[in-house]
Amino acid sequence: MPSFKLNVNNTAYTVDAEADMPLLWVLRDLLNLTGTKYGCGVASCGACTVMIDGNAAYACQRPVGTCVNKKITTIEGLSADGSHPVQKAWQKAGVPQCGYCQPGQMMAAAAMLEKNKKPSEETIAEVMSNNLCRCGTYHRIKKAIHIAIEDINQ
Ligand code: FES
Ligand code: FES
Repeated sequence: MPSFKLNVNNTAYTVDAEADMPLLWVLRDLLNLTGTKYGCGVASCGACTVMIDGNAAYACQRPVGTCVNKKITTIEGLSADGSHPVQKAWQKAGVPQCGYCQPGQMMAAAAMLEKNKKPSEETIAEVMSNNLCRCGTYHRIKKAIHIAIEDINQ
């Protein structure tokens, strides 16, 4: 079986896996980084969202063979102590209900804010439409994003 060197949350890992194994399985089953969730497996829900080189990506759709020499960030790597503006804002707004979709929601928001510190309402709506929440926490997600925007621009 081939092995791949990965950079996940600024830590170097070597994993033995088939090249087409989804990054999601590598993270969860081989690296025990279970914060990234499996929802649909078919690019429809966003529960598996991570950052790859700063861009939001569905980990269920990324073969591990395409992830070498890239910087992968999962919810565990957003900050060591919950101090990332998105984490603080999510807490302040009390966003989660069941919580299952929230790591993906937070990674999508964090990736958006890394590129654009003052996204428009349209951009927020467009970017966040890639992530579904069965509990319907959309209003609180939006509120939290605005708290985070205020935080990073002060
Ligand atoms: S599990 Fe990847 S998009 Fe749903
Ligand atoms: S908080 Fe339950 S699915 Fe989003």
